[in-house]
Amino acid sequence: MCGIVGYIGNKSAAPILLEGLKRLEYRGYDSAGVAILENTNPPAQAGLLGIKKSGRIAALESAVNLANPTGNLGIAHTRWATHGAPTEKNAHPHFDCSGRIAVAHNGIIENYGEIRRALEASGHFFKSETDTEVLAHLIEKYYQENLAEAVRLALRHVRGTYGLAVIAADQPNLIVAARRGSPLILGIGDDEYFLASDASAVLSHTNQVIYLSDGELLRISRQGFSAITLDNKLVDKEIETLDLDAMSIEKGVFPHYMLKEIYEQPQVVKNCLAGRLVLGEGTAHIGGLNLTDAEIRMAERVVFVACGTASYAGMVGKHFFEEIAGIPCDVCLASEFRYNRLLISPQTIVFVISQSGETADTIAALREVKQKGIKVLGVINVVGSTMSRETDGGMFIYAGPEIGVASTKAFMGQITALSLIALKFGRLRHLSVSEGKRIGQGLFKLPSKIEEVLAGAERIRQIAEKYKDFKNFLYLGRKASFPIAMEGALKLKEISYIHAEGCAAGEMKHGPIALVDENFPSVFVAPRDDVYEKTISNMEEIRARKGKVLAIATAGDEEITRHADDVVYIPQTEPCLSSFLSVVPLQLFAYFIAASKGLDIDKPRNLAKSVTVE
Ligand code: M6R
Repeated sequence: MCGIVGYIGNKSAAPILLEGLKRLEYRGYDSAGVAILENTNPPAQAGLLGIKKSGRIAALESAVNLANPTGNLGIAHTRWATHGAPTEKNAHPHFDCSGRIAVAHNGIIENYGEIRRALEASGHFFKSETDTEVLAHLIEKYYQENLAEAVRLALRHVRGTYGLAVIAADQPNLIVAARRGSPLILGIGDDEYFLASDASAVLSHTNQVIYLSDGELLRISRQGFSAITLDNKLVDKEIETLDLDAMSIEKGVFPHYMLKEIYEQPQVVKNCLAGRLVLGEGTAHIGGLNLTDAEIRMAERVVFVACGTASYAGMVGKHFFEEIAGIPCDVCLASEFRYNRLLISPQTIVFVISQSGETADTIAALREVKQKGIKVLGVINVVGSTMSRETDGGMFIYAGPEIGVASTKAFMGQITALSLIALKFGRLRHLSVSEGKRIGQGLFKLPSKIEEVLAGAERIRQIAEKYKDFKNFLYLGRKASFPIAMEGALKLKEISYIHAEGCAAGEMKHGPIALVDENFPSVFVAPRDDVYEKTISNMEEIRARKGKVLAIATAGDEEITRHADDVVYIPQTEPCLSSFLSVVPLQLFAYFIAASKGLDIDKPRNLAKSVTVE
């Protein structure tokens, strides 16, 4: 949530900052700004040029191009508003009273109210409604000659979270960065450095990076960088090589990242299975899981903690664990879990699931469990993310960068990873080798079956055209198709702004059915499984109230055409694996409805890719 970019080097900063902001725009996109230190002679008279705009980066870009700044040091920010509306004056960077210090911030300063009142009482003048502006004034209060020290002293007064970039007009060779709870990465070039909230903004310049850890402060000059803790102790930072391909962050031939990412799903499953699925033994080898066979055999319960789509992946994973591995499993929303009483025994295995690895609630839950002395494992996409560093083991899903705000391929990677872990657990417990092999074969065949679903995209587009003007939808399913219904409804509401409710099909008659009439269609996830007939009965209950029915069904199921107005078929697979296939038509359905309305699919209103605030 919010993106920070910084540049120090010998090139013009403006184009680099703007390019970086465009790469980070998915993190927040309601306003943006830059602060650039303009080159002047003598340098002592240099000034900070601040340009801010509400709305998308394009608006900022025009204003920056008009001003044509030439400075080669600057910071920039794209915002997802928390405190104060997304206006120009609330956009970052924020400045101190004199305009000498500029600050770009990601996170929330929780005690900003009391700090602001104290600063105002001592004569500081505020221009915005943001929590961030207190940082600019606090740093001003402590700033004499040493900017890094002023930032360090200011941060001692602050409660909350920050990723922070600070520059000052009289420091032409310095950016100060600090982190607590909000990621920052420093890209290392030749006599130039690129600061950013994530790797996508530095990848076109360098693959050599360092990751800032919580409680660290970085001084960056053209000649090098040094890191200290907020207690002023030197820290050695290890330079790491990014394992990312620059093409992976391009849209290529697709009109939207979301569509590209939907089409990448067969490859995502292949990547996640590669080297892990052991077909001959009907099991999985997962390096890095960090669980002994004895721990797996002794496990009494598995708990998944996640938010949003990742929590629906957890709900699908619950079915894998209970049906394949025979272990009771709970799925907890991180925002609730972190404040609940933790009733977790040492025989409970806790996983966090996250695409970004930066979701604030999930990180807080992770820390809460670890603080009780219990191991936490991760199912994570972004290598180098906070969760990937703080978990005790787990699995990367290797889905590659997911840029569309609506998560698609990460969900696919998450359920692939969870199925593999469940298979491994199952084989160490009561799953027979023949059952393990059957499931393994089922997993192995999934990529080509997902290709088959994608090949039917045009038919799904036509169905979407037929349904696009309805204002409300119910999404229904049973067992593992219930979380798929939840995920389908989430996709539709996120990108098309149409009200959609996911519901367990059997629960529908306990209330939601009151909504149903000819203007309130239902989408049923109804593969041929052991609850198929129950689901058909639920369809009839909807149709008896004149509700239209769109069904996702298994190829060869002629029966269902008697109960649904429209049917999209998915290939046959192992019943416990149908979620891998049934989610794809729902992603495409949501995509085509939003596309037909001309909406901004990759950056839906009010959302941001990575929710790094509570
Ligand atoms: O990065 P994470 O997987 O931790 O993110 C969790 C949710 O914020 C995320 O899945 C969100 O619900 C997406 N917008 C769903 O499309």
